[in-house]
Amino acid sequence: MANERPFERLLVTGGAGFIGSCYVRDVLGRRDGTRITVLDKLTYAGNEANLAPVRADPEMAARLTFVHGDIADADAVRPLVDAVDAVVNFAAETHVDRSILEPEAFLATGVIGVHVLLDACRAATGHPRFVQVSTDEVYGSVPEGHAREEAPLAPRSPYAAAKAAGELLVRSYVITHVVDAVVTRGANTYGPYHHPEKLIPLFITNAIDDLPLPLYGDGLQHRDWLYVSDHAAAVDHVLRHGIAGETYNVVGGAERANREVVTALLERLGKPWSLVREVEDRPGHDRRYAMDGAKLASLGWRAATTFEDGLAATVDWFVANEAWWRATKAGDWDGWYERQYGRRLANGRAAARDGV
Ligand code: NAD
Ligand code: DAU
Repeated sequence: MANERPFERLLVTGGAGFIGSCYVRDVLGRRDGTRITVLDKLTYAGNEANLAPVRADPEMAARLTFVHGDIADADAVRPLVDAVDAVVNFAAETHVDRSILEPEAFLATGVIGVHVLLDACRAATGHPRFVQVSTDEVYGSVPEGHAREEAPLAPRSPYAAAKAAGELLVRSYVITHVVDAVVTRGANTYGPYHHPEKLIPLFITNAIDDLPLPLYGDGLQHRDWLYVSDHAAAVDHVLRHGIAGETYNVVGGAERANREVVTALLERLGKPWSLVREVEDRPGHDRRYAMDGAKLASLGWRAATTFEDGLAATVDWFVANEAWWRATKAGDWDGWYERQYGRRLANGRAAARDGV
């Protein structure tokens, strides 16, 4: 059964991150009656500044409560879940490269944390709906065609394995405890407030500073790109219209090779291809992600933003918001950058422009 409840009191976990904060900004901006509590651990990826547009509007700010905490902390989670109609779980460690170097936090949040949230939903008297925001990476690499929701889970990185484990916990709570839960599997998301560790914001911000752009392997890996406000809208659509126990692919409809993405962002910035360095590949690098979006389309949702429009808006946002991304490239950024890229860049080589 599709859920027809109004969902006016939401707990949004990971709401200070990239997609979660977009969800909070958009839902508070669009739905007058909705109140949101954000629960966020403020890891290196969480940033209260992502919620500044809400704070700047007194009417919206009055409908937002921020709680600094961990989804794996059952004592903190239970009363928050008890007070809402739905929990939308964006909280996760999200960078594949970090999961290769340090997987522990991925398991703590992606497995234990998801379990704590599910158990709190099971125990809550108001039977809140639970939305698990998952990823196309649970299908593993898709050499051809487009993965449908019933395809086997075949994760290939510690990040993807933790996300698949979270999904399986959801499934178990739906079947065993009749928790009202739905899962979304989103494609590669990009847009404003994207942490600069990821491909598109890393390359935009490095290019602004004329720093090298470390392209893994041959750069012919394919991703399907989804603009962030489309991803947030899809999650809200599934919250309100998804059928309990079901999983929905969220596609961008914009499959591109990494080289094509880099060419497009350099053109928008007016920066030269000579900044690109071919560097040692990511271990276990998934060659291609591609999903079939028919199931969510049948519920009436489609992405609204073309890749060309979304990328132009993203590049322009980073150009206009240097203070935001320079602050995220402070702190432990240099240590991370050296660890991930120091040797790669020292051994890297200029990348030929052809090969797309
Ligand atoms: P992000 O890394 O920008 O933000 C994650 C947020 O979760 C941060 O605010 C962080 O502080 C918070 N967090 C981490 N661990 C926590 C914990 N234990 N308790 C409470 N808060 C915690 O991530 P994102 O890119 O916005 O991704 C959000 C969700 O969407 C994730 O679940 C991710 O797996 C999924 N997803 C992301 C993409 C993408 O391309 N970015 C695509 C598909 C799915
Ligand atoms: O597909 C959904 C997933 O998309 C989300 O679940 C993840 O949370 C999100 O991080 C993203 O994962 P990817 O690994 O695909 O994104 P990333 O931006 O790290 O890399 C995109 C592509 O660019 C990938 O093929 C690796 C490549 N890349 C990435 C970086 C950071 C490079 O060539 N060089 C780089 O420095």
